[in-house]
Amino acid sequence: MLLFASLYLVDNLMGTTHGGWYDECYTPPNKLDDLRYAVRQIINITEELNITYWLDCGTLLGAIRSGDILRYDHDADISIVYKPTTAIQISHLLKNAVNNIGMKYISFGEINPTTKRKETSFGRVRYNDVYIDIYGWQIRDGVFQGRPQQILHKPYPDYKMLLLNKLIEKYVIEVYEFPLAWLHPRRQIEFIGIKAMVPNNADALLTALYPFKKFAVPYKLKCWLPF
Ligand SMILES: *[C@@H]1O[C@H](CO)[C@@H](O)[C@H](O)[C@H]1NC(C)=O
Ligand SMILES: *[C@@H]1O[C@H](CO)[C@@H](O)[C@H](O)[C@H]1NC(C)=O
Repeated sequence: MLLFASLYLVDNLMGTTHGGWYDECYTPPNKLDDLRYAVRQIINITEELNITYWLDCGTLLGAIRSGDILRYDHDADISIVYKPTTAIQISHLLKNAVNNIGMKYISFGEINPTTKRKETSFGRVRYNDVYIDIYGWQIRDGVFQGRPQQILHKPYPDYKMLLLNKLIEKYVIEVYEFPLAWLHPRRQIEFIGIKAMVPNNADALLTALYPFKKFAVPYKLKCWLPF
């Protein structure tokens, strides 16, 4: 267990994949195509609904590095901003729009049919065998690195963290808040054939998420092991 925990930790720090341990080292081309298609659709939906979104986590890393989904990424991550008073409304709008294009939307608190657990992200989109995590962020006044300023914060635990035991949780780097100034004004970059929004200071966010990303091998650690 400890070995798996350490490897997960190192994978996490280097910005390699969050995909399951037994997933393929490189994501098969058809799955990558499904991811690209689903991400394009979700970006279209958030723009149509005037929801502030940005590419996050591994999807942001891939977008900045190569304008594409990372070859070893098994899911995609999109963050949105919402107010506590509009959470339910936004959730319904997203669900309707996603269902209308034939994909499945799992809202916060609903049972995920694959994991049989309650969803703890703001939402998740399922398309064929791929998922897009939708992370919800709220804006509040706060202090970051000693300076009072507006802060984005994610008010509930990340789904993946709940799958790990307390020991791992304690050491996994997870970003729950960061300055609004890193996000705004968002900028557009070329990504999978469309223009997508990323945080203005994507590098600061990526460094917080993946402190050792500069040394990252483009590969899951598992794939180096003989078992
Ligand atoms: C979303 O997709 C529809 C249908 O392809 C298109 O007409 C619309 O312009 C798109 N919206 C945005 C914001 O890209
Ligand atoms: C979209 O949202 C922004 C703020 O997030 C607001 O200023 C703007 O008026 C909205 N536009 C539409 C068409 O609703």
